[in-house]
Amino acid sequence: MENAGKNSISVVIAGGGSTYTPEIILMLLANLDRLPLRCIKLYDNDGERQGKLASAVKILIEERDPSIEFVATTDPKIAYTDVDFCLAHIRVGQLPMRELDEKIPLKYGVVGQETCGPGGLAYGLRSIPGVIENIDYMEKYSPNCWMLNYSNPAAIVAEACRRLRPHSRVINICDMPIGLEDSFARILGFKSRKQLDYRYFGLNHFGWYTSVKDPDGNELLPKLVEHELKYGNTMPGESMDDYTDHTWYDTALKVKDIVSLDPSMAPNSYLQYYLFPDDMVAHSDPQYTRANMVMDGREKRVFGECARIAEAGTAEGTSLRIGIHAEFIVDLATALAFNTHERMLLIVPNNGAIENFDPKAMVEIPCIVGKDGYEPLSIGTIPTFQKGLMYEQVCVEKLVVDAYEQHSYLKMLQAMSLSKTVPSANVAKKILDELIVANEGYWPELH
Ligand code: NAD
Ligand code: G6P
Ligand code: MN
Repeated sequence: MENAGKNSISVVIAGGGSTYTPEIILMLLANLDRLPLRCIKLYDNDGERQGKLASAVKILIEERDPSIEFVATTDPKIAYTDVDFCLAHIRVGQLPMRELDEKIPLKYGVVGQETCGPGGLAYGLRSIPGVIENIDYMEKYSPNCWMLNYSNPAAIVAEACRRLRPHSRVINICDMPIGLEDSFARILGFKSRKQLDYRYFGLNHFGWYTSVKDPDGNELLPKLVEHELKYGNTMPGESMDDYTDHTWYDTALKVKDIVSLDPSMAPNSYLQYYLFPDDMVAHSDPQYTRANMVMDGREKRVFGECARIAEAGTAEGTSLRIGIHAEFIVDLATALAFNTHERMLLIVPNNGAIENFDPKAMVEIPCIVGKDGYEPLSIGTIPTFQKGLMYEQVCVEKLVVDAYEQHSYLKMLQAMSLSKTVPSANVAKKILDELIVANEGYWPELH
């Protein structure tokens, strides 16, 4: 890749049947000038699901640039041979298992969420072997390939990578900061998030911005926080109709409460699940959770539109759109391929970057990205409130990976009991026992 010339890059999308695949394809196709591609492959272990998207993806690619080879496969050897990047977004157990992750804790009055609380821990135990399996295929068939992994729960998956595949070329990422930075730019009156410079520290779905500067280096964080204390991350006059759905509107509003706990920093909105679990549960419908919304919304829309494209034989007039999510992935791949030294938030081993925090924790911090990978920036010391919250959470995540490695019921029970979202070890045990039954065939047998 050192001499990457035009059309030299080959990518495989692992989890080809994901609802996010079409928007990633569109983003790749919109950026061929900076990330030229010779081949795009889709790989999934569910050929039927992937096939429903693949016919439309083939048309999208042919209509945009017929010189790009397209392959959709369930064969890891075909998928991972001769690739420079793997964009990984698998969901082990798919959306019906997400539904159980959310609904089981809610039965006991506990946060039911994809990546936070017991549901996130359950998903972690399912996700680890799937991600590791894909890393191993990559290393076997394309040892120089980079995996840009955003399969959730990213924090637990990243800890598993640190421990189980420490030398692999895997970079764990999350799009939440991109979404937050878009809001910051809007609030502060800038066209693009890229006009601003950020400092941030934390864990995945668990962090704080400590600086937001304009291109002249002026600090805008106080102005941002002043806004957040009044409106959260919404704009004055905005309503639910301005958001994709009410969950994201509620989340943007809730920032108002989160930031009041420390108005010297702008928080990641995922902290709502840890700091206000009672409010989150009160606003959840235990019969109809986010997984139901996604299955009835994004999944139907994306698969429906792909079926329409396949039937029509053309993508002309398609309602499929590029996602912000995908922009970040192209930026990262471009930084690695062409040594751009872009500054990006990645989930990496702390290793001293946060001076007063566990060096072996996987933290989300700004890094400079180039041809040889990433170089984390030094953060310095963090305050007691954030350090305390983060340490509890990082131990929860580590206990899940212990449970995976040791097949340990006790470690998983400790993880659930330690989670800030769970009020008592009694409740943790009830939820865990029900999750064990639900995850049969996905989790290692715990004893
Ligand atoms: P989805 O269920 O629609 O798609 C996931 C696909 O992965 C499915 O087609 C499934 O068959 C496939 N898969 C499962 N196990 C696999 C394996 N071992 N090998 C290959 N393929 C496998 O899910 P979705 O809602 O589109 O989300 C996909 C993933 O992306 C999830 O993990 C989600 O949490 C994650 N995501 C992460 C971020 C982030 O910021 N980190 C943002 C958006 C989505
Ligand atoms: C954000 C997070 C992801 C998460 C997604 C859930 O993008 O960064 O990690 O998977 O939200 O969105 P959904 O629409 O599936 O609930
Ligand atoms: Mn995320």
